[in-house]
Amino acid sequence: MAPHIVPADVTDIQQVLADHDRYWGGRDLRGLHLPALVHEFGSTCLVARDEDGIRGYVIGFVTPDRTGYVHLIATRDDTRGTGLGRALYTAFADAARGQGAVRLKAITTVGNEGSAAFHRSLGFEVRVEEEYNGPGQPRVVFTRDL
Ligand SMILES: CC(C)(COP(=O)(O)OP(=O)(O)OC[C@H]1O[C@@H](n2cnc3c(N)ncnc32)[C@H](O)[C@@H]1OP(=O)(O)O)[C@@H](O)C(=O)NCCC(=O)NCCS
Repeated sequence: MAPHIVPADVTDIQQVLADHDRYWGGRDLRGLHLPALVHEFGSTCLVARDEDGIRGYVIGFVTPDRTGYVHLIATRDDTRGTGLGRALYTAFADAARGQGAVRLKAITTVGNEGSAAFHRSLGFEVRVEEEYNGPGQPRVVFTRDL
């Protein structure tokens, strides 16, 4: 059965951090998992839970210019390729639209080809913004209308 996608709580973030590598491999993104985001943007921070734990999650929010910004999205290593990433984005888009969002946006590091392929499959435009994080620090920017 497909995991149930529901609003996340701070305990979910702690569980993800305890098993961080199963979601992010060797990349250390622990510092981006801010509990404040779950506290302040609860309806756009979503988790897919199953009897065996957290299969995937998305942490995001809607900006004042009506962009649904996805800060983090990941599925657990044993769940990839089953459609959960797409389902999480659909649930996030529904929640963001409910708050007035008219577009979606996400960022990743240059070279994260899996993320670029995933976002392309979901209909995002992909571009590199050369100084997104400052001089000499490009990022890949994904955008899509809602
Ligand atoms: C990126 C990620 C969230 C995708 O999750 P997923 O559950 O495997 O994605 P889905 O099964 O829903 O796939 C949705 C579509 O994306 C495609 N896709 C997903 N990952 C892909 C990859 N690595 N290479 C090529 N295509 C990929 C799938 O083929 C599918 O296409 P389709 O629906 O047209 O058949 C997951 O690989 C992950 O957690 N990666 C590590 C964390 C990360 O990099 N997150 C993104 C940061 S911006």
